[in-house]
Amino acid sequence: MSTVQRSLVLVKPDGVRRGLSGEVLRRIEAKGYTLAAVELRTATPELLAAHYAEHEGKPFYGPLVEFMLSGPVLAVVIEGERCIEGFRSLAGATDPTKAAPGTIRGDLGRDWGVAVQQNIVHGSDSEESAAREIGIWFPQLA
Ligand code: TYD
Ligand code: MG
Repeated sequence: MSTVQRSLVLVKPDGVRRGLSGEVLRRIEAKGYTLAAVELRTATPELLAAHYAEHEGKPFYGPLVEFMLSGPVLAVVIEGERCIEGFRSLAGATDPTKAAPGTIRGDLGRDWGVAVQQNIVHGSDSEESAAREIGIWFPQLA
């Protein structure tokens, strides 16, 4: 049965700063997913409050939002069969030190000794999150 999905991917400010946007897009395309939207954006506190609503109140929330405001992000909508789970596999574990080699975070990320994990990418974690996050970043696509 076909389960073509869309997922919201962000190349976070560390990834954009380090010149890794193209590398992330290359891996997405090499996997066979389609790019439905790509836009370099500067986030706002309002946008991030909506995007990271599930983490509000956690100790890393404030520093995370501050980090996400530290430079532009590349906002991407990808499309493909089971691409939500598929991109999470490409991204690897949240902690870039623990992320497996072969993944974006495992190959390109590391611990920089700062409060918040700078792990290069975000990817939606469920169909519900994907719909919600695409609505936040690309309301015209929702
Ligand atoms: P989370 O949604 O748990 O991870 P993922 O990005 O893999 O879905 O957390 C969102 C981001 O918050 C995560 O990418 C990095 C940051 N974060 C921390 O800085 N410290 C933490 O302990 C956690 C859980 C997340
Ligand atoms: Mg998450």
